[in-house]
Amino acid sequence: MRLPERQLAVLEAASATDERTIGDLAAETGLKPETVTGAAFELRDEGLLDVTETTRERAELTDEGARYVDEGLPERRLYRAGRELGAADTPVSMGEAIGAADLDGSAVDIALSNFARKGLGSIDAGELTVVPDADPSDDPEMAALEALAAGETLTADDVVDRLDSRGVVRIVESVIRAVTLTDAGVDALMAGVETAETVAELTPELLASGDWRDVEFASYDVEADAPQATGGRKHVLRRTADRVKDVLVGMGFQEMAGPHADSDFWINDCLFMPQDHPARTHWDRFALDVEPMEAIPEALLSRVERAHREGWGEDGDGYHSPWSADFAREIALRGHTTSLSMRYLSGHAGAPLDPPQRYFSVEKVYRNDTLDPTHLLEFFQIEGWVMAEDLSVRDLMGTFEEFYRQFGITDIRFKPHYNPYTEPSFELFGDHPETGEEIEIGNSGIFREEVTGPLGVDCDVMAWGLALERLAMLTTGADDIRDLHGTLADIEFLRTAEVSY
Ligand code: PHE
Repeated sequence: MRLPERQLAVLEAASATDERTIGDLAAETGLKPETVTGAAFELRDEGLLDVTETTRERAELTDEGARYVDEGLPERRLYRAGRELGAADTPVSMGEAIGAADLDGSAVDIALSNFARKGLGSIDAGELTVVPDADPSDDPEMAALEALAAGETLTADDVVDRLDSRGVVRIVESVIRAVTLTDAGVDALMAGVETAETVAELTPELLASGDWRDVEFASYDVEADAPQATGGRKHVLRRTADRVKDVLVGMGFQEMAGPHADSDFWINDCLFMPQDHPARTHWDRFALDVEPMEAIPEALLSRVERAHREGWGEDGDGYHSPWSADFAREIALRGHTTSLSMRYLSGHAGAPLDPPQRYFSVEKVYRNDTLDPTHLLEFFQIEGWVMAEDLSVRDLMGTFEEFYRQFGITDIRFKPHYNPYTEPSFELFGDHPETGEEIEIGNSGIFREEVTGPLGVDCDVMAWGLALERLAMLTTGADDIRDLHGTLADIEFLRTAEVSY
């Protein structure tokens, strides 16, 4: 039998009676562990080796842990400094000991909380005393850190667990592979195996010389484990946004653009939101201390004022509550992108629009909410509207079904809702794929005449605001919005999450 050199080396280093790990074989053959792993799987496929895999937990130094290996654990440095200052005989000021130990920042708290625990001394009324015969070099935690730094493998025990909870080590799972010779492997070795010259890579030289005709090529095991290479990647939320845009463009929509900071006029007044509506108080909106917006078309402003004061249409009735143009001109961060819909529907963002029209945006909005698993203070809204003659609720529902179907979501539900600017209105719900919990994914409706009339639109407009983050939660399975972005987001999740479609 002829085998490539590395396979032969691994075969010869393996035993029929003892399991040898990849690490053992690498040490014995002088080959790299990944080369040994590759050869072991090739030999397994040829029936010459058995490969077993066990998952083991082992400790790994964190950056902080690696630093302590060099500098010493903070509590041990405090002990040494205290001793040198004579704290074995008379208490010394804690500030002085901390200074002498050269500790600052979080290292001070770490030193103090572990000092007494380890029986190195005590702290009382700002004075530090050290136990004279405590031997700080006899410290299992430090010994464990040094062993890890020296490349030893440690599995979880009390000391490692304590270091883990201190954030000095982390527990990682690793797969340990071990091999044994099969009967066929033993037979092959007894019968004698020769090395076959194999070539792993086709080079220009091989091609030019024509030697490629005579050499034997190593086969690739495309399923073998390989070191993971993680390059740059678009953030999962951005990828979801891109996908949403593609889907909506595919459904015949055009994109809207407009300011993040806008006047209350476009954000709220055009939407027939009464000026004393709770959402318009300073509690809910991020007001900006800047000059009010002068550039609001006068005719539109007075039509909107009329709708608020007296109503619009034959049996319209306004709010009969105070309305002030000054308030309408004030600037805030938009709490929804429906402000863009107002700008476009009014014709103010470009030419007046003739039905039918479809517009969308996937843009950021800002709300003074309380941060929790499903709420962020700023998030992306998928805004959209369709302007056409004779739209019905069926058109609205059908549009959403079509849209969410593109993301594999086929079980959305609608609940009647109230918005001051739409009638009828619906909230949309979907089920979280992991937790099964019902989550709100959007809000929608058909604009009232009080909204479309003053804007100069005389046909139907159905519209919505959907939450991009919620859609991403449904497609990625993330069950906390903070897993998607922000400091809590898991880097591994960001590296691997797929936007399913
Ligand atoms: N502005 C609404 C929101 O932020 C969404 C919406 C837009 C609802 C248009 C109906 C019509 O929740």
